[in-house]
Amino acid sequence: MVDDVSDSAPLGPLAVIPPDLVTLADYEARAEAHMPAGSWRHVQEGAGRELTLRDNRAAFDRVRLLPRALADLRGGHTASDLFGRRHAAPILLAPIAYQCLAHPEGERAMARAAAALDAGVVLSTLSSVPLEEIAIAARQAADALGTGGAPLWFQLYLQEDRAHSADLIARAEAAGYEAIVLTIDTAVKRSSFTLPAGVDAANLRGMPKLRHTSTPGGRILFGTPLADAAPRWEDLAWVRATTRLPLIVKGILTPDDARRAVEHGADGIIVSNHGGRVLDGLPAAIDVLPAIVEALAGAVPLLMDGGVRTGTDIVKALALGAAAVLVGRPQIHGLAVAGMPGVAHILHILRAELEMAMAQLGCATLADLGGGQLWDARRAG
Ligand code: FNR
Repeated sequence: MVDDVSDSAPLGPLAVIPPDLVTLADYEARAEAHMPAGSWRHVQEGAGRELTLRDNRAAFDRVRLLPRALADLRGGHTASDLFGRRHAAPILLAPIAYQCLAHPEGERAMARAAAALDAGVVLSTLSSVPLEEIAIAARQAADALGTGGAPLWFQLYLQEDRAHSADLIARAEAAGYEAIVLTIDTAVKRSSFTLPAGVDAANLRGMPKLRHTSTPGGRILFGTPLADAAPRWEDLAWVRATTRLPLIVKGILTPDDARRAVEHGADGIIVSNHGGRVLDGLPAAIDVLPAIVEALAGAVPLLMDGGVRTGTDIVKALALGAAAVLVGRPQIHGLAVAGMPGVAHILHILRAELEMAMAQLGCATLADLGGGQLWDARRAG
């Protein structure tokens, strides 16, 4: 049993995955003991009173499923196409900054695990290993396994200086990333978390960092360089014009913004509240998804993240209209507990639970998931 771990040194990653790690919740419960207390809090926390963080989970738990009996499951699979590329399952690893906080191999271990399980990866601008090294690690893992390699996308945080953003995009394109994910839900980005020695924003070395301090009686946020540098719609148009890759906009929560993003050239949308970390009081991503699905009427693929922890969460998101989901914190839990095999196990658990849920619902393919699998309390007799 793990008592108060806050004062003791964290355990190292396990060499063998114990049989009692069966669900993502098991990994979460185990992970705290494997991380320094400050890093653990940083990963787990949400903004404010964590209403949004909690609601991301609670909203999934409110959705109920309906099975269809005696379905023909022969030839079943979980594959789908996104942006012209085959995905073995509709599960991607969300961009998570500074993964070396959880494991010395950080994003390298995460990318190898994803390659092994044929899962798409979205690498953060704030990765603690340079984006070029991650592309190489993913390719080497795929070669070693004799697979074609899973899709690798690059998540972009716009930099104050456009030349630096352009440089990041060019580097991602040159390294073989297949899509740019522009995160737009953090108008101003600041964190009180101090990175431990040896962990840094590896892609941004040599680029200036916008420092923000506010003093009583002085300017708080408005009128400071931080607020003035907040990205605007014209910046989305600029990113569109700057890359030839598919452009996916992450952090949309309203039908209007989704439509506007598509008008500005987005090829896909990720419905997300950033795992409840940016503004407390936002609705759960799964709750706003249906209105955005309706507004876009299939114009571009919609993905979602926030609170996805089980295979039934994934079928719920897909039945509500998502083309795929992204998983955030659980990859850190897997990394902390057991490194690359831990993340691979997390992905395997999700894929196994997804297939089991699809089979029990009577869905042989993802295309079979829809409103017919959702129980509507208002219509129930
Ligand atoms: C994030 N997220 C994030 N998003 C992004 O676009 N760029 C980033 O660098 C990060 N970094 C980051 C760090 C940590 C510690 C967390 C927990 C989250 C948000 C992430 O991509 C995703 O939207 C959420 O994590 C999804 O919610 P769940 O799966 O964690 O509940």
